[in-house]
Amino acid sequence: MKKASSSLSELGLGEDISRAFFRPIQQVAPPSPSKRRTKISVVGAGNVGMAIAQTILTQDLADVLALVDAKPDMLRGEMLDLQHAAAFLPRTKILASTDYAVTAGSDLCIITAGARQIAGESRLALLQRNLAIFRDIVVPLARNSPDALLLVVSNPVDVLTYITWKLSGFPPNRVIGSGTNLDSSRFRFLLADHLEVNAQDVQAYMVGEHGDSSVALWSSISVGGVPVLSSLDKHQIAYEEEVLERIRKAVVESAYEVIRLKGYTSWAIGYSVSNLARSLLRDQHRIHPVSLFAKGFYGIPDDREVFLSLPARLGRGGVLSVANVHLTEEESIRLRRSADTLWEMQQQLGI
Ligand SMILES: NC(=O)c1ccc[n+]([C@@H]2O[C@H](COP(=O)([O-])OP(=O)(O)OC[C@H]3O[C@@H](n4cnc5c(N)ncnc54)[C@H](O)[C@@H]3O)[C@@H](O)[C@H]2O)c1
Repeated sequence: MKKASSSLSELGLGEDISRAFFRPIQQVAPPSPSKRRTKISVVGAGNVGMAIAQTILTQDLADVLALVDAKPDMLRGEMLDLQHAAAFLPRTKILASTDYAVTAGSDLCIITAGARQIAGESRLALLQRNLAIFRDIVVPLARNSPDALLLVVSNPVDVLTYITWKLSGFPPNRVIGSGTNLDSSRFRFLLADHLEVNAQDVQAYMVGEHGDSSVALWSSISVGGVPVLSSLDKHQIAYEEEVLERIRKAVVESAYEVIRLKGYTSWAIGYSVSNLARSLLRDQHRIHPVSLFAKGFYGIPDDREVFLSLPARLGRGGVLSVANVHLTEEESIRLRRSADTLWEMQQQLGI
């Protein structure tokens, strides 16, 4: 990696200078054997990876943050830029390298790297390219951090989470996709904005496949603890199924609108993933809709080894359990259809 700036020791300031500032204390006890340090690695230092990295820093979620990317100069530039903010942030050691050794001993590895779709390229061809990229990423990540949790963000997130599970050999509860956590937050924003309440007081889950075919769980939506659909019924406010579907589509469309306007999405996914990182590493036992090993849940058959989003309790062990949310017949059918689509796509990958 080309180096433009140097550390002070490389510029000739000896390591022993600290003796001029600090006097050692007497009778020092040995360091505690317990491991208190939290290390997060982010693979892919593009728009999404850097938004996640900066949110992790501002929210004080890690003692060590390691960045990996295939582009060494850009990566070093991003590392230095973040390091230069040290005076305004909690103390976090920031490392960056193209070599996965830098990720060793991570508690959480977040994967945001991936190929972008080329004009005219099929979804399957893009997936094949991402499969090759993920072989380069997941195998060394898993080798360097055998006890880590793996959190996949790159798209198509559900299939890439499955690929990550296969390549890592990790138990499925330690492999998670960011899934519909972001879709659900967009949904909550739209409702909160309409009702002029804080989005944190809106409970709403989108489940299933991340993106176009995500399923809105209308029966689970409540504002300030009041279920939305039964409240509309009680006040005899008519609503059509088509209106609900239009709202779901508006949630999906809102992501495309951001991409159309600014070229990519970054801030919301940054906060969404940091929120997941906090629940996982701080053992919060909070419920998030994330992409998880879904076979056997909600009528998804046992022969469908797929990852798709369901509301799950997250903690230091990864996915701790799946919430039993009421699904209508139509919602169950859509979920199983998503499972079938994902399974068929995975079959074509031949892994
Ligand atoms: N799950 C979600 O909700 C969600 C939301 C937004 C974006 N995304 C996805 O996140 C991914 C990243 O988006 P972006 O806008 O940051 O893209 P980007 O092109 O800005 O960044 C991707 C980075 O990956 C790096 N990379 C590529 N191959 C690599 C390899 N083999 N090893 C290491 N690094 C490699 C590239 O150098 C680049 O810096 C995309 O797949 C996007 O669709 C997911």
